[in-house]
Amino acid sequence: MRLTDKVAIITGAGAGIGRATALLFASEGAKVVAVDLDLQAAEAVVAEVGASSLAMAIQADVSVLADVQRVVAETLDRFGRISILFNNAGIVPHGKIHQTTEAEWDRTMAVNVRSMYLMCHEVVPIFLKQGGGDILNTASAAALRSVVDRAAYSASKGAVVALTKSMALDYVRDRIRVNCLCPGTVDTPSLGQRLAAFPDPVEARKQFVARQPMGRLGTAEEIAQAALFLVSDEAAFITGIAFSVDGGFTV
Ligand code: NAI
Repeated sequence: MRLTDKVAIITGAGAGIGRATALLFASEGAKVVAVDLDLQAAEAVVAEVGASSLAMAIQADVSVLADVQRVVAETLDRFGRISILFNNAGIVPHGKIHQTTEAEWDRTMAVNVRSMYLMCHEVVPIFLKQGGGDILNTASAAALRSVVDRAAYSASKGAVVALTKSMALDYVRDRIRVNCLCPGTVDTPSLGQRLAAFPDPVEARKQFVARQPMGRLGTAEEIAQAALFLVSDEAAFITGIAFSVDGGFTV
């Protein structure tokens, strides 16, 4: 029970890494606020947690200021405080830069980067008032190593790493730790969608696996375990890191 009585906002909690983290944090005693664009998905996770009094689902687009403000207000109404902010919602667009439309570029930056600005902008003042808190952002191995057909995505995740490091230093004396995760390829619903976009999804999956030094993809649960460590008291001396959980992909 490493997160007893902590209140954790998790964005993108309806599927994949966010879902696995919501379930793990709840099993460690956290009160989880599962935020997702897809309300049904978030509610399903809350139902899975089992004790709905200790978890709540909120529908929100985290790239929209009014939605983010509502998430923070509803969390404070329900639980009175926020201990952990896990900025995890993200999208993975495909394409080289000349294939990326302006709309795709803008949406990628909005969901993957602007959302983190908005969430942090609204939550940090609460952390400052409370005397501390933990922020964890989901970046990607693609921020650290080139991956083909991920131009907008890699740029957005590079921004997440830089924002993480910048914020970590800004608040290092305020008992606010800011870290990010850099997962390698993880078997989640979003990966399924990416594979489905290939002419031969079965072959594409083989290619994804072939580029993994460990010869396999990661699981959402493995990323969730790293998230748990980084927001727990065991990681109290860790801030500003880009924590790779990638089966050796960036070695
Ligand atoms: P997923 O697509 O399986 O789940 C993401 C969830 O976020 C979905 O439930 C979706 O509805 C929600 N979401 C999307 N846009 C949103 C928005 N604007 N507001 C609120 N919720 C929104 O994704 P997955 O794979 O679990 O990815 C989670 C994070 O991990 C993302 O930031 C992704 O970039 C990152 N990541 C994923 C990797 C992978 O291989 N799956 C590898 C490295 C990083």
